[in-house]
Amino acid sequence: MIQTGPELSSPLKKSIRATAGPCGRNTALRSLAESKDGTRSRALSSTTLARPRLQSDFINGLFDGQAMAGSSSLPTTTDTLAVLARSLADAGVPDPRADVEWLLAAVLKTSRSGLFANPRRRLTPAQYERLRYFVQERRARVPLQHLLGETEFFSLPFYVGPDALIPRPETEILVETLVDRLDANTEPRILDVGTGAGPVAVALAHSLPGSRLVATDVSPRALRLAVRNACRNDVRQRIAFVCADLLAAFRSRAMFHAVVSNPPYVATGDLPNLQPEVRCFDPPLALDGGPDGLAFHRSIINQAPERLYEGGWLALEVADGTAPDVRELLAESSGFIHERTVPDLTGTERVLLARKRA
Ligand SMILES: C[S@@+](CC[C@H](N)C(=O)[O-])C[C@H]1O[C@@H](n2cnc3c(N)ncnc32)[C@H](O)[C@@H]1O
Repeated sequence: MIQTGPELSSPLKKSIRATAGPCGRNTALRSLAESKDGTRSRALSSTTLARPRLQSDFINGLFDGQAMAGSSSLPTTTDTLAVLARSLADAGVPDPRADVEWLLAAVLKTSRSGLFANPRRRLTPAQYERLRYFVQERRARVPLQHLLGETEFFSLPFYVGPDALIPRPETEILVETLVDRLDANTEPRILDVGTGAGPVAVALAHSLPGSRLVATDVSPRALRLAVRNACRNDVRQRIAFVCADLLAAFRSRAMFHAVVSNPPYVATGDLPNLQPEVRCFDPPLALDGGPDGLAFHRSIINQAPERLYEGGWLALEVADGTAPDVRELLAESSGFIHERTVPDLTGTERVLLARKRA
């Protein structure tokens, strides 16, 4: 969840590493994706917080309107990218060039590759103004995905926001692992515990067309986002969303072929060390896994066997270095046999698959 693999092609695929750093301030974000008007974004007008000044004189001049007398005095796409990437780098933003490309592409309503098709294109003053706002927000470590308002998971589009964890690329392994096992079952019933923005449930429903899912979360706000994502990806009819504490809402009888979860798994003492994008903008409810980070794994391993059919699957995402501990929890439980551990792209053990004992 917190450590990710090498950089891939979408903002979702960005690395999120645990590093200490200053906290950005929380703001009532309106995403770039939501901003329809060409002059002043809703995000810009909705913020009530002081904007940090950009460090570069060039940028200040540029965005304070000094360079806007005539269109020929406005900098090109190429200049803008170089200067703003430097500005993000100065603020300690990891991967600054890629971030500016994403933001500029969104402002210009084009793709990242589209930026390079016309490198001498000049931005309008309104476009500069919007870009300035988003660069300032990014300098304050607001996650890129929050600024864009959406991300990609399992090649599907997802709305994101402050109400739920931003779906992480390594969680795709959780989905892949389970799809492999359930492919032969034409009508699997699956429970996704702690669904957040819904990426696991939605991706499973999308990949397994005969499946039916229940997705739980204790956060009603996260569930609202998950419902929007299920609608967006045309799988709403096959997912029931339930506000519940883990598996407590379900009777103690077998009703699922699989239980899947990417539960909160940061040890409480490690929370202050997380990267600012995570520490300040992901909901604490989605992160805090108790004193050893394993509180939710323990509870799910205890509660899941009774809800699973014989031979049913349990798939859990785990934090860096905790796979041996979770394997031990499985070994101690009378309910499961460990089947396999799947590494992420960095080789870190990331997903544990277990089978209900006969
Ligand atoms: C790490 S996030 C994962 C979200 C999503 N499944 C994903 O992979 O992006 C964990 C989720 O568990 C939820 N959660 C925390 N405590 C819970 C509980 N007791 N019962 C159900 N869900 C809980 C949080 O609100 C959060 O949405």
